[in-house]
Amino acid sequence: MIAPSILSADFGRLRAEVDEVVQAGAEWLHIDVMDGQFVPNLSMGSLVVKALRPHFSVEMDVHLMVVSPERYVEQFAESGADRISIHVEATDHSYRALQQIRQAGCKAGVALNPGTPLEVLRWLAGEYDYVNLMTVNPGFGGQQFLTTMLPKIREARRMLDELSTASLDLEIDGGVSAETIGAASAHGANVFVVGTALFGADHRGARMRELMSGPAWT
Ligand code: DX5
Ligand code: ZN
Repeated sequence: MIAPSILSADFGRLRAEVDEVVQAGAEWLHIDVMDGQFVPNLSMGSLVVKALRPHFSVEMDVHLMVVSPERYVEQFAESGADRISIHVEATDHSYRALQQIRQAGCKAGVALNPGTPLEVLRWLAGEYDYVNLMTVNPGFGGQQFLTTMLPKIREARRMLDELSTASLDLEIDGGVSAETIGAASAHGANVFVVGTALFGADHRGARMRELMSGPAWT
């Protein structure tokens, strides 16, 4: 499953850009929220979710890269988010923040920076619906996929299968392209956030098809 990240879209024509990838088969839309503190960059707020919501029925997947994300959960839920992931590094109370996301009616996601151990997944088990594994340093689009994360993806998949009878989604985020998606999939990821490799290129429909089933998979 491809989750296009609008961070790399042309915001002057955002609705048309999203329309293109949705027409091409995107089922999730990934929205990167950055506060300039947890990550160096600033991006967008709930306004963008609210603006897109009436026009699309895709799953809006909000990735909160902000300090104390619990401050914004309700706001994003009310704006139409379906999924919200929070970084365990950004709050002292990730357990509570995940509960809060579900109480607000959304699916809860655990996001982990490249250097963060997977062990937290064990102790948060039952409180999340998906995991967002960062495969670059969070904060910017267009970075190179960290191949050192491949064994971490495999281990995360193994842990999720062990910890839950429901099949939990394992999303990977950063540097996903036609060149890297095959290996990531082979290691057990099933949701792929794609920014630059999709919005940075022409012919988004063709890129989507290539990412979903292209030659680089072999
Ligand atoms: C990075 C963001 C990503 C970003 C991915 O901090 O979380 O979602 O948009 O962009 P690409 O696909 O360009 O690496
Ligand atoms: Zn993201």
